Amino acid sequence: MQAFVVTGGTRLEGRVTVPGAKNSVLKLMAASLLAVGRTRLTHVPDILDVSIMAELLRRLGCIVEYDAVASVLVVDVPEELGHQADYDLVRRMRASIAVLGPLVSRVGLADVALPGGDAIGSRGLDMHVGGLTRMGAEFTSEHGFLTASAPGGLTGAQIWLDFPSVGATENILMAAVLAKGRTVIDNAAREPEIVDLCEMLQQMGAGIEGVGSSTLAIEGVEQLAPVEHATVPDRIVAGTWATMAAITGGDITVDYAHTKHLEIALDKLVTAGAMIEATATGFRTSMQGRPRAVDVVTLPYPGFPTDLQPQFIALNSVAEGVSMVTENLFEARFRFVQELTRLGADVHTDGHHAFIKGRRRLSGAPVEATDVRAGVGLVLAGLVAEGQTTVIDVHHIDRGYADFTELLTSLGGEIERVDVPSRG
Ligand code: EPU
Repeated sequence: MQAFVVTGGTRLEGRVTVPGAKNSVLKLMAASLLAVGRTRLTHVPDILDVSIMAELLRRLGCIVEYDAVASVLVVDVPEELGHQADYDLVRRMRASIAVLGPLVSRVGLADVALPGGDAIGSRGLDMHVGGLTRMGAEFTSEHGFLTASAPGGLTGAQIWLDFPSVGATENILMAAVLAKGRTVIDNAAREPEIVDLCEMLQQMGAGIEGVGSSTLAIEGVEQLAPVEHATVPDRIVAGTWATMAAITGGDITVDYAHTKHLEIALDKLVTAGAMIEATATGFRTSMQGRPRAVDVVTLPYPGFPTDLQPQFIALNSVAEGVSMVTENLFEARFRFVQELTRLGADVHTDGHHAFIKGRRRLSGAPVEATDVRAGVGLVLAGLVAEGQTTVIDVHHIDRGYADFTELLTSLGGEIERVDVPSRG
């Protein structure tokens, strides 16, 4: 098992380039299944999740080549595709579910291992299943697999989502582009990553109206053509670097970033005392003195992103004042709070609220990353804690942050990747 040893007390300063978004590229890779031939994706981050999705596409019969230096990934999709996503991959990456829509629309059959804890109709996949069912897919669940079949093809339908789910919007969208007739998705998610997927599908020949709004209207077409597409910048990675500048009293310029994708988060950093300055290719964040506490409520886009919530709890834990952070998307995201309190943070949770009393000092200790964002949240806290913080289980961080230790070191941070004995 690997760990990061972070020595606190340094100020981060310098320039970093943000890669393409993890949460976009995984869906763009799934969307490549919709067209026979070579799809070429650029700005593809060198992260664990991309390699898991590449393996999944290979098992479906595709040839996948990745050039990490050029950040280019080519998927060559055959005429005849497989239809199974195996448990060993789905277990490691829940986003594997993104192949469900493309497979059922192109092959008429998809067998996707159920991510732990899910069953047909249960919270987690109910909107994916409900939407595709309306389009004519039949679902069964046996031996840990969710099977969707539509041998005669899918038909366009009117779909109202209970909640603007990112994954359900994407699956229904990718199924609808090859369905017969018109599909309307109401209360659709409108994250920049969904806009990116819509734009790639449009380039491929799909008929989509309402891109970027909460009503997507899709006119199905007979077939799509493979294209070349640049992945949208990773707003969460950009926001993480900006928060690192704020927490360390530093000065970081991020390139390949769109400030308009991060408006609420950057506004919160300004409230915390940071200066944000737009540049030609991104933005610069600088901070002097101690941050001020800021309240945050996570919501679907354009609300404050849940994927920046742990980073902001870390920031608030050393800020002047008290704050409340409300998590509306993933309750399990507060699991990281108990790790943060090991560093001396004064945080209490009650349901989906966290109450944070800023402390002048945190003190380094061994802690465990429970997911990718919790992991970077702990690194942020470690950067301002006295002494050394050892974050274990860093494969979670590797899932979403390319070249993390190298970039952090280039900014003046003290961080080292070490091997530690695995537990039990
Ligand atoms: N939900 C349901 N039923 C469904 C679908 C979702 O109840 O059919 C619930 C989920 O259980 C969750 C909430 O709705 O409580 C939000 O889920 P959503 O479908 O919007 O999220 P997702 O597609 O599973 C993606 C990102 C997450 C990001 C969320 C919200 C990927 C691979 N994952 O997840 O990213 O937090 O959208 O923006 O795109 C991360 O990168 O760390 C991460 C978790």
